[in-house]
Amino acid sequence: MIRARNLWKRFGKIEVLKGLDLDIQTGETLVILGRSGVGKSVLLKHIIGISKPDEGSIDVDGALVTALSGDALYETTKNMGMLFQGAALFDSMNIAENTAFYLNQHGDPKTKAKYSKGEVKDLVDHALEMVGLEGTQNKMPSDLSGGMRKRAGLARLIVYHPSYLLYDEPTTGLDPITAMQINELIVKTQQQLKPTSVVVTHDILSALFVADRLALHKEGKIAYVDTPDNFLKIEDPIIDFLKKTIDQDPREFRRQREH
Ligand SMILES: Nc1ncnc2c1ncn2[C@@H]1O[C@H](COP(=O)(O)OP(=O)(O)OP(=O)(O)O)[C@@H](O)[C@H]1O
Ligand SMILES: [Mg+2]
Repeated sequence: MIRARNLWKRFGKIEVLKGLDLDIQTGETLVILGRSGVGKSVLLKHIIGISKPDEGSIDVDGALVTALSGDALYETTKNMGMLFQGAALFDSMNIAENTAFYLNQHGDPKTKAKYSKGEVKDLVDHALEMVGLEGTQNKMPSDLSGGMRKRAGLARLIVYHPSYLLYDEPTTGLDPITAMQINELIVKTQQQLKPTSVVVTHDILSALFVADRLALHKEGKIAYVDTPDNFLKIEDPIIDFLKKTIDQDPREFRRQREH
């Protein structure tokens, strides 16, 4: 379970997180919606420990991530994986090397032993197959489309079976069909590996496809967290807007706005 309490974070003059509280239950898929620039990526970076708050704490299964650094932080966060906005593959490594990266770094999570070359190859092949990228092992990231890069980024995570998966805008910038493949992959990963997942997105279709619960990040805090049905009933201009984008023909929406 992840417990964020009273998180504050300021960059220069802008206060991004303003006393944010959030509980993420073990095994759930929590989707965080919110407008651009509100601090969603900043929040994920705090959960995984690569950013530190000015105030407040994040507890992951009893470990205070916000108070740890160095080896202790690495030990606590190595069972977490984050799919960064933009996939962030290493450009100089091919897809097999990219996929093997954390696997080589972390070793076997149970025994801590290093994997042999043969074991790495089998695990990488299997992860690439799971995301539908079989046969791309020797390709470079620049040879792949945006959607394929996101899938390769996901393969690099699922290959070492993290208990926590953080997805930052997994479908942004993809065509609707590719985006749906990514949504399906998130659900499939959830069913097969049963991690706790946090998905940040502004794509309401994706949010409803994958979520057990939905949260709205607004004005430096999590304004609401609820089941999809209840969340959609909340009276809030942002939720109202999101709802219209899925309920209404955009032409009807435009006619209303013009009046
Ligand atoms: N390292 C940093 N240094 C300075 N400002 C930062 C830093 N990281 C984030 N910010 C600022 O914090 C705010 C929130 O950024 P963040 O990337 O979390 O937004 P977001 O909600 O993820 O937006 P988007 O939906 O566009 O990805 C922005 O104003 C951003 O410029
Ligand atoms: Mg972001």
